Amino acid sequence: MIAKLIQKTSPVSQSTKINQLLVVLPKQDKSSGNFLNQHIFYGKEALEALLIRRKMKAEEICGVPVSANLENGSLCAWVIVDQEESIFEQQTCLCKALQFLQEENPEEIHIAVYGNAKEKRILAELAIFVTWVNGAVLPSRKTDRKRIYKKELAKIILHGYKDASGFALLRGKAEGNTLARELTILPPNELTPDLYCRRVKKLAKDKGWKYQKFDLKKLRKMGAGAFIAVTQGSDSEDAGIVHLRRSVKGAKKSVALVGKGICFDTGGHNLKPTRYMHGMHEDMNGSAVALGILLAATHGNLAVNIDCWLAIAQNHIGPHAYKQNDVVTALNGDTIEIINTDAEGRMVLADTLSLAAKQKPNVMIDFATLTGTMCVALGSRYSGFFSNNDNLAQQAVVSGKICGERVLAFPMDQDYKIGLKSTIADIKQCSMENEADHILAALFLSRFVNKTPWIHMDLSASRNTGGLGAVGSDVTGFGVAWGVQMLQRTLQNQ
Ligand code: BES
Ligand code: ZN
Ligand code: ZN
Repeated sequence: MIAKLIQKTSPVSQSTKINQLLVVLPKQDKSSGNFLNQHIFYGKEALEALLIRRKMKAEEICGVPVSANLENGSLCAWVIVDQEESIFEQQTCLCKALQFLQEENPEEIHIAVYGNAKEKRILAELAIFVTWVNGAVLPSRKTDRKRIYKKELAKIILHGYKDASGFALLRGKAEGNTLARELTILPPNELTPDLYCRRVKKLAKDKGWKYQKFDLKKLRKMGAGAFIAVTQGSDSEDAGIVHLRRSVKGAKKSVALVGKGICFDTGGHNLKPTRYMHGMHEDMNGSAVALGILLAATHGNLAVNIDCWLAIAQNHIGPHAYKQNDVVTALNGDTIEIINTDAEGRMVLADTLSLAAKQKPNVMIDFATLTGTMCVALGSRYSGFFSNNDNLAQQAVVSGKICGERVLAFPMDQDYKIGLKSTIADIKQCSMENEADHILAALFLSRFVNKTPWIHMDLSASRNTGGLGAVGSDVTGFGVAWGVQMLQRTLQNQ
């Protein structure tokens, strides 16, 4: 659950006793001079004393949050936000400031914003999102009762600004991001395909989405041979493609969100070594991100129809598992030569994209922890994407800058396809050489999207030790805020 928000237009009074307070100030304005000197704000004397003690100037704490205990007993963190910096930098700075307060496990946090009306709105949006996202307690199975557990943040009291909708879309984004992280963190024995589908079914019922599962029996009958190949190694018959639909009355645009939902990736017969298999319960992150965006759009009342397609399965080793040199026929009729059973993501996505594209959405976006080479190329602070549409690609980059989830466009030129040429089938699943596999994977997927304007997001930033931007946890939920931004842009372009 996300914290309850109470908004007060008036600035917080110095005489109010507050346990934990985040003071968010705009950077000095060149025309009006130093903000700190010219304005009154909560804990001003204590901050001035701190600056004198540290022999620092006010400018020096811009982007470097500080905290102090006030005489009245409050713990106060101050942060000066430079709006000329990137949103990512601003979020990072607020996240650090919030950590000072979170060390005390508060159930309630006060936020005070200062500046002119526009500045207050921008600062409030930043601070509220960061506080919502980091106030949630993520799943943990520790039983050490002596340890002081982080308590869920129950309440945020915002002073100095009031939003008429109560920041509905922002709240949705924080909820969507939290859902994505919660699902991703769950251990694989608690999120088998069966348990995952049940959870999604319940959520669909609660949120008013249409739920349909294409189970293995149905998929076999339909000829979804690429998806089926990956599931052959599993004993259970619980894998499938889940289709959720959110219909909005009067909405003109339809967006398809597709997600890789591999609940555990052993690599299959081309088994992963221990070090690389560890963490592969997070290989369903793409599907969790797609689900998070759907939740955010629902809670934020975005006027867009959404079809969400989750490719839920496990990649196991076993006597029936698919193997190198197998040739399978995908849903669109293409034959695929298997080169490496660990390249399972593109297999399950191939048929899922075919299904999604059949409905001719205006835009289709897939999310997947698809390739190790994308992580090599970018590290885990950016995610890389591919698109068959230049306009969409530009929007993707801009959306990344606006929301603080940074993305980079990768090339998908046809000549790379030579690496996927098969002597026995229409296409190879991947190449034996690992060179530029993220590009080959995107080209492989492009076969299944037809002419649909499409983005493939390879989520190298799904996990970043120490958090990323607005998010303080290692699992980042990267893609939810970006996806919501893309939905907003799609709506603007109609
Ligand atoms: N899920 C992995 C890719 C991955 C690994 C993403 C680690 C994020 C972190 C994917 O299924 C995979 O194993 N890909 C192979 C493809 C190769 C066999 C062509 C890889 O990247 O090694
Ligand atoms: Zn794999
Ligand atoms: Zn995988």
